[in-house]
Amino acid sequence: MEKRGSFGSRFGTIAAVGGSVIGLGNIWRFPYVAGENGGAAFMLIYLIISLLISIPIMLSEFAIGRSTRSNPMRAFSRLAPGTPWKGVGYTGILCAFVILSFYCVIAGWALEFLGDSALNRFAGLTPGQIAGNFDTFVASGWRPILWTLVFIGATAFIILSGIEKGIERYNKILMPVLFLLLAGMAANAMTLDGAREGIAFLLRPDFGKITAKTVLEALGQSFFSMSLGMGCMITYGSYLRKNENVLRIGGMVALSDITVAVLSGLAIFPAVFSFGISPTSGPELVFVTLPNVFARMTGGYFLSILFFFLLFLAAITSSVSLMEVIVAYLSEEFPVGRKRAVALTAGTVAVTGSLCALSMIPSSALTVGGMNLFDLCDALSSNVMMPLGGLLIVLFAGWVLSPAKLRRELTGGMRYGTKVYPLVRFLIRFVIPVLILLLFLNRTGVL
Ligand code: TRP
Repeated sequence: MEKRGSFGSRFGTIAAVGGSVIGLGNIWRFPYVAGENGGAAFMLIYLIISLLISIPIMLSEFAIGRSTRSNPMRAFSRLAPGTPWKGVGYTGILCAFVILSFYCVIAGWALEFLGDSALNRFAGLTPGQIAGNFDTFVASGWRPILWTLVFIGATAFIILSGIEKGIERYNKILMPVLFLLLAGMAANAMTLDGAREGIAFLLRPDFGKITAKTVLEALGQSFFSMSLGMGCMITYGSYLRKNENVLRIGGMVALSDITVAVLSGLAIFPAVFSFGISPTSGPELVFVTLPNVFARMTGGYFLSILFFFLLFLAAITSSVSLMEVIVAYLSEEFPVGRKRAVALTAGTVAVTGSLCALSMIPSSALTVGGMNLFDLCDALSSNVMMPLGGLLIVLFAGWVLSPAKLRRELTGGMRYGTKVYPLVRFLIRFVIPVLILLLFLNRTGVL
């Protein structure tokens, strides 16, 4: 992607934005957060929030990005010169560091598991042995760090050599393959003993389980999954062509993102119950569940290699978009050049990522208030920084950005979306800010 260039085609645009939104958030984070928050009730709220809140925020980010064609910090200072709004841009850049720090660790796990799959290390293991294997891997400390560094290096390499075009081209083929593979895995999961229980866990809501915490977790998950609240979609919006139907792009991207998350839930929860794994296992849920499935499936050997390879690819197209936010800012605002900006960013993330990996060793001292550094980065970004960023972004789009500009960006000068636009604008101006604010006040105990 050239600086201030545009995406070449509609399909290319969807592939690029889709590459950013579809990632570990859908396949790794969604099942584990849903599992920790009661399953079906969480999923229902997640769906409502994604449609009602996340899509309009994505559209707001697109509008801000495309109307200024610049990095998030510059975008705010152009649209509202001399105001503190550019702080939203700065917080977004900080948030990118926080997310990358733990994201690269999980992507590193995917690489380790890709290697294990290729060596057929899961064959014949019992669920207990598979879980034990995982614990030994994380506790070794150096192996997760090694893979984290490999992954950061690969991300930096892609950003530097500008082979995004290549990646995007592969994305167009590989993302549909990932989609089909997950659908196949979900179908296979239905045949497991205990599948009913897993499906009920994900699809039969127990409304008694819904608390403000559930709602905030669902909001955080939805934002994380759609790459919102920290300027990533402002950056990508700045590459959108002027004649692109932004509403349609937003809708399609959101729909594919939600579908991939739900499919991965359907592939995982039946297996969770079938193998007696606790749905509240936390971040390792996917990694201790799926090897059991593969170990017992015909063709499991090849499918596990394919799955972890696709997981790695889904992760790297997302980490590229995260790192791009920082690199675009550094190289456009300081005289450092892209090369040094990438080196600086990758170097910093290598340190913070390694610390996150180390903090997952049981009894590690890298904890804050009872949470290890890894969980802290995960919770801080999704439950605090991104909702806050999202709130400020819709307030900006709804109340600071000129109404004519918002309308022009979202309807292409009233050429499309004229029917839904008033609804979207209403959501942006009133509904979303009030909902997020209420949620925050409730969580912090004010309400
Ligand atoms: N959405 C990606 C995923 O699901 C992760 C991601 C990429 C992201 N860019 C982001 C998350 C920006 C938050 C903000 O894996």
